Amino acid sequence: MRRVGGEGARSSFADDVRRGLTATPKFLYPKYFYDELGSRLFEAITALPEYYVTRSEAEILRARAGEIVAALGGPLWLVELGSGDGQKTRLVIEALLARQETLEYVPVDISESAIETSSRSLLLSYPDLRITGYIGEYHAALRMIRKERVRPGRTLVLFLGSTLGNLDPKERLAFLRDVRNLLNPGEGFLLGVDLEKPESVLIPAYDDPLKVTAAFNLNLLVRIDRELGGGFDISTFRHRALYNGAEGRIEMHLESRRDQTVPIRGLGLEVSFAAGETIHTESSYKFRREQIAALAAETGFELRRTWTDSRGWFSSNLLIAT
Ligand code: SAH
Ligand code: AVI
Repeated sequence: MRRVGGEGARSSFADDVRRGLTATPKFLYPKYFYDELGSRLFEAITALPEYYVTRSEAEILRARAGEIVAALGGPLWLVELGSGDGQKTRLVIEALLARQETLEYVPVDISESAIETSSRSLLLSYPDLRITGYIGEYHAALRMIRKERVRPGRTLVLFLGSTLGNLDPKERLAFLRDVRNLLNPGEGFLLGVDLEKPESVLIPAYDDPLKVTAAFNLNLLVRIDRELGGGFDISTFRHRALYNGAEGRIEMHLESRRDQTVPIRGLGLEVSFAAGETIHTESSYKFRREQIAALAAETGFELRRTWTDSRGWFSSNLLIAT
């Protein structure tokens, strides 16, 4: 296990919360959702009937993982960014272990608990797997992997779940260029991307009747209370999900139910909210297929092939480094 960023990570949470809650409009970065409870709440979201994202991508990988890895030659080693619980990764791992005797798997995730739990469970299932997890952010982890890992074969990078959609357009390009920098020409990048669809499908997926997504969103305030001495009363905020058609994204917000001032002791800060004012906590962009090819071309890749699920809701895209 490698820790990337170390102590700096704690102070950047404090700095980012100060920046976000003193800005107009207020915002918090979605990477901070994923403490231990947040990672578990996300896993619960993936099991919700309304959250079609995980199930649609799993349908594609179940049918196509063999074809995808066969297109890349081998032997391969696997780097996964934002690996989470690693459940869908199993489908790729199994396809690879059907073609080669051993496999080196390098998951990267900002959530220590996600890396630890998923690695333990994968090692139990696959004795021929070797795992080195990197706990930290994509950019720093990719740089460290490039510098210190001896490559046991050709590289395949995975970025599943449409986590790309949580990056804004500028971050998205920088992220794709970081991935490209890890690869040699001809090596592969499997990118899961959620596609545009009617608002009537999107809203329940991000505002489910069981309120699991609301808990996932509100947990960000619980985390500020615990780690930064915040005084948020969670019952005075509500979860909001809305579709921003102009930007092509679902937005999640936390809305103050009343006028109030919240102290954050660890930051020596008092934050005032008007009734109805929101903190923007996440964007989840939805893409058109032609956007994916354009993004690939702009960042040093060729889009080799796209597979979709039976409803045409989600896409798995095989990008090749040019
Ligand atoms: N790939 C999994 C998990 C998606 S949830 C799936 O498809 O189900 C997004 C994951 O990315 C979480 O596990 C979260 O901890 C991780 N993550 C979010 N922002 C990150 C960042 N900036 N650097 C590294 N990991 C990040
Ligand atoms: C991880 N990411 C792709 C999820 C998404 O759909 O944007 C996070 C999430 N937010 C609310 N529900 C799920």
